[in-house]
Formats: sequence, C-alpha cells, structure tokens
Amino acid sequence: MKNLLLDYLNEEFMRKLITAIAGISLMGLGFTAMAEGNGAALYQSKTCFACHGKDAKTPLLPTYPKIAGQNKEYALAQMKDIKSGTRSNGQSAAMKGVMGLVNEAEMDAIAEWLASVN
Ligand code: HEC
Repeated sequence: MKNLLLDYLNEEFMRKLITAIAGISLMGLGFTAMAEGNGAALYQSKTCFACHGKDAKTPLLPTYPKIAGQNKEYALAQMKDIKSGTRSNGQSAAMKGVMGLVNEAEMDAIAEWLASVN
C-alpha cells in the first residue's frame, strides 16, 4: 500500500517535472525565434535590403558587400563605425544616411540575424 502511494507520487511528480521542463524549453525556443524574427524583420523594415539584397547576399551593386553569414561582432562594429562616421571609406556614405533609422539594440539584433544567415 505504502509502495503504491509512493509509486503514484513519483509518477505524478515526474509527469509534472517533464511538463515543466518542456514548458521552459518551449519558452526558450520562443524567445530565440522572437530575437531572430526581430533581426530579420528589422533588416527589411530599416531598408537594409535595398542595397544588400533581401537575402543579404545579393547586393544592388557589385561594389556593395554581401553581409550574410558575417561574424556578429564584426558586422555590429562596422554598423556602429559607419553610423558614427569613424568608417568613412569607399561608399560607406551611401549607407550612413540610413543608419539614423537604427539604434544600438536594433543593430545588435540585425547583426545577430546576419550571423545566422548562410
Ligand atoms: C544605400 C545603400 C545601403 C543601405 C540602405 C545599407 N547599406 Fe550597409 N553598406 C552599404 C555599402 C556601400 C557598404 C560598404 C561601404 C564601404 O565601401 O566602405 C555597406 C557596408 C555594410 C556593412 C559592413 C560590411 C563589411 O564587410 O565591412 C554592414 C554590416 C552593413 N552595411 C549593414 C547594413 C545594415 C544592417 C543596413 C540597414 C540598417 C544597411 N547596411 C543599409 C550600403 C548600404
């Protein structure tokens, strides 16, 4: 009798534990998808695609860079430098105007998404 009760409690406990773990995992997946979705959506809504292509690897002109798959830290640093004017070589002036549309958190999200695109 005592064993039966313990078995029942254990089973009930395990079921609840598994449900809780599954719930937490799903939440994590949801957050990841949100962050990625955010970067991808920002890339389109902030007009980056106009010059770098919808997939970030078919630039408008051959003199414009493909940026899909770029390291996150590198891409973010370039965006900040182009925005601030620290990087003002080549054709970065073309991009500078657009950088007023994105703040640091948005650049971070876009860089994160770029790094995930192959
Ligand atoms: C008007 C065209 C244009 C738009 C719009 C534009 N870019 Fe650019 N981007 C460029 C050009 C041109 C360069 C290369 C500049 C140079 O030659 O120094 C560049 C460079 C970059 C780089 C650095 C690439 C490298 O290899 O160093 C990143 C990252 C980047 N852009 C991201 C973005 C993001 C994110 C957006 C949207 C917020 C954006 N760009 C909008 C034209 C544009």
